[in-house]
Amino acid sequence: MASVTLKDVVKKFGQFVAVSDLDLAVKDKEFLVLLGPSGCGKTTTMRMIAGLEEATAGDIFIGNDRVNDLLPKYRDVAMVFQSYALYPHLNVEENIGYPLKIRKVPPDERRRLVLAVARRVELDGLLDRLPRELSGGQRQRVALARAIIRTPKAFLMDEPLSNLDAKLRVQMRAQLKHLQHELQVTTIYVTHDQIEAMTLAHRVAVMNKGVIEQLGTPKEIYNDPRTLFVAGFIGSPPMNLIGGAVTSGVFTNDGLRVEGFGQVDLPRAVLGIRPEDVHVADATDPRADMVAPIYSAELTGESTLVSVYAGDRLVTIRADKNFAGEIDQRIGLRIAADRAFLFDAESQRRVDF
Ligand SMILES: Nc1ncnc2c1ncn2[C@@H]1O[C@H](COP(=O)(O)OP(=O)(O)OP(=O)(O)O)[C@@H](O)[C@H]1O
Ligand SMILES: [Mg+2]
Repeated sequence: MASVTLKDVVKKFGQFVAVSDLDLAVKDKEFLVLLGPSGCGKTTTMRMIAGLEEATAGDIFIGNDRVNDLLPKYRDVAMVFQSYALYPHLNVEENIGYPLKIRKVPPDERRRLVLAVARRVELDGLLDRLPRELSGGQRQRVALARAIIRTPKAFLMDEPLSNLDAKLRVQMRAQLKHLQHELQVTTIYVTHDQIEAMTLAHRVAVMNKGVIEQLGTPKEIYNDPRTLFVAGFIGSPPMNLIGGAVTSGVFTNDGLRVEGFGQVDLPRAVLGIRPEDVHVADATDPRADMVAPIYSAELTGESTLVSVYAGDRLVTIRADKNFAGEIDQRIGLRIAADRAFLFDAESQRRVDF
């Protein structure tokens, strides 16, 4: 078990900068999720930690050891990929036990350890099966068991659940979280699925274009986004981001007027408000910040997602599941400034008020 530390790590492919000046300190036993859109540098970062890719600059530490010049096999980290890369001609027991065979662990001892790990991931009834005789979720657990049996200093998991169907993903997600808690092994986990990130992580590092935009607990990332990118990336449906201007603390755009932003003056502003923080009011309610016709109303089960246009932007409201409005019916919206965020459209950074 160990911490994993990256200091000013850069990765260039020719002239292209895939990862730039990355600083990240993953604590011992921590579950850290790297979250970001396709191409932001997540896999590249993992591959540098594992030693499969050489850092162009910067230092990588596992525990107290600088590992930049260490071959992958000496770094003692176990990687689990999106494609599980099982040996097709070996059965489950042999696949799981493979790392021990390499280490020349005697067969009896190996069998005992494989059984113990297989039980942990509920594969003990399937030890004789070949990978092609397994479901996706079972294969995924074989890959996981093969990583666990190594008792590595850290797990590096790159979108390990992305091949599974939605239901199985949710199930495996809970299993993974429980397992990490039990094993207490430092884990770095890559995903572009923000719900996976929020549910699994102790801390989330939100990456965009090769840099970490924000690092924090899921709560901090959700409640205290520092940039427009983080605000728009986290949340489902995502935060409403409405362009406009702020003059003496009053935000305006076509049709929308929200007071309460202190003394802020910002000619190019973006107002951010989560769907659950916009409230439906009567069209005649004098306290409404805006009145508009309903564009659509979708019942999701636990709530109704109502959308209306504010200028050229659709605003989504998470309303009560019993909301009964019809398309084209005019409704009022109320936005509480103390639940809203302001961003500077130029710098993309949040503006406090
Ligand atoms: N070997 C390579 N040569 C050139 N460019 C590369 C190479 N590997 C990755 N890149 C580029 O570096 C950037 C980051 O790639 P990376 O695989 O780390 O993204 P990612 O965040 O894992 O994305 P995804 O979610 O799609 O897996 C991408 O723009 C990619 O095209
Ligand atoms: Mg990737």
